[in-house]
Amino acid sequence: MNTDTAQRLARRHADLLVRRGMAITPNGVECIDIACRSGMIVALGDLERIWSAETVLNASGLHILPGVIDSQVHFREPGLTHKEDLEAGTRGAVLGGVTAVFEMPNTQPLTLSALDLKAKLEAAQGRAWCDHAFYIGGSAVNAEMLGELELLPGCAGVKVFMGSSFGDLLADDEEVLRNILRHGRRRLAVHAEDEARLRERKPLVEESGDVVQHPVWRDELSALLATQRIVRLAAETGRRLHVLHVSTADEMAFLAGHKQRVTVEVTPHHLTLQAPECYERLGSLAQMNPPVRDRHHQDGLWQAIRNGIVDVIGSDHAPHTLEEKTRSYPQSPSGMTGVQTLLPVMLDHVRAGRLTLQRLVDLTSAGPARIFGLESKGRIALGFDADLSLVDLEAHRVIANDWIASRSGWTPYDGLAVYGWPIHTIIRGNIVLRDEALVGTPIGQPLRFLEPPLAQPA
Ligand code: DOR
Repeated sequence: MNTDTAQRLARRHADLLVRRGMAITPNGVECIDIACRSGMIVALGDLERIWSAETVLNASGLHILPGVIDSQVHFREPGLTHKEDLEAGTRGAVLGGVTAVFEMPNTQPLTLSALDLKAKLEAAQGRAWCDHAFYIGGSAVNAEMLGELELLPGCAGVKVFMGSSFGDLLADDEEVLRNILRHGRRRLAVHAEDEARLRERKPLVEESGDVVQHPVWRDELSALLATQRIVRLAAETGRRLHVLHVSTADEMAFLAGHKQRVTVEVTPHHLTLQAPECYERLGSLAQMNPPVRDRHHQDGLWQAIRNGIVDVIGSDHAPHTLEEKTRSYPQSPSGMTGVQTLLPVMLDHVRAGRLTLQRLVDLTSAGPARIFGLESKGRIALGFDADLSLVDLEAHRVIANDWIASRSGWTPYDGLAVYGWPIHTIIRGNIVLRDEALVGTPIGQPLRFLEPPLAQPA
């Protein structure tokens, strides 16, 4: 064999060949083989006769999504690891078909500095099962430094809590918000509930002690006022914005007029659970900020998915222990697990005809990659990272607490039967979940982002 032939043959040897799955590519749904080498997708098509591989994974009967990216999780490390930690949180991600996560800054200590970020990145090394990035919290104390902090490797950007939720991170003062918005260029992620209105209305629930009142306390106007305010300030300061977990039809109607600057997240729980039934059935396990609301608002969220206002689905995985959750309301903390159930719950919605599989991929892979400028992620295409979530759309399973990897060990969907289940998860060409079982060791790496564009004032 001459050197030329040897080289040509060598080029056609892959580390992993995923055979005959129905892949969701930018072209649509295609039955193809996917060759992965050195962590990347190196060939697509009918590859059997041209490519050999160390490992061959038969994907016939399965659908292959670009790796699911969950751009909102709370993994509680450091400081609150009795609720969750980076190992268990990312293990749940991989079991649920999620290949990358952005983690939130309301840990203890809060993630406010380069040192806090470094500590999280170090804690994740060798313990995270999936790729990851960490948000820096935006507050009065670090506002002036955010422009530099947001560009540190492994940083997902800046997150601001406009209304108190869980933890001490809060920025509700107009000047502080302006200062945060002026420092930095990346898309700013925001939890939009109006703090003044929340404080004013809290006595409503302190008297009743009834969790059914949660969406009455933190009502639709609390959400709308904060969203309108931050969108106005973002326009004034020329900053791009990402409004997390939008929960009302009213906000969607408003946000439709601001898509040039503002991107939108919805969560599976706002799309799936419904007030008042969920509170009657689950009590404070259904308690979340912003709250799960009634049918009218849920219909508004689905409508916003159909008409393109929504850019991403994030889980807002926010675990608390069952002991903490069963404290009497409103002492019970808000939050529920979600990273592991995001994909099965959403695949069941696909089955029910509420959205297409192509649209789901747009919301859970392409969307987060596009709006946050993720390098090499979010689509099944040559040169992209070989991150793949292989699912069986026909698998009929019951979600159960004992499947949940989270340290908190529960899900609001315990007992829910769904169609659609993650079978294999592949990260940068490594099979980390095979036949629903974890394989290997945690290989998660920090995510890389593209340079943010220059801000343009309105
Ligand atoms: O209900 C919530 N809990 N919403 C949030 O945004 C924060 C979260 C938490 O960290 O527990």
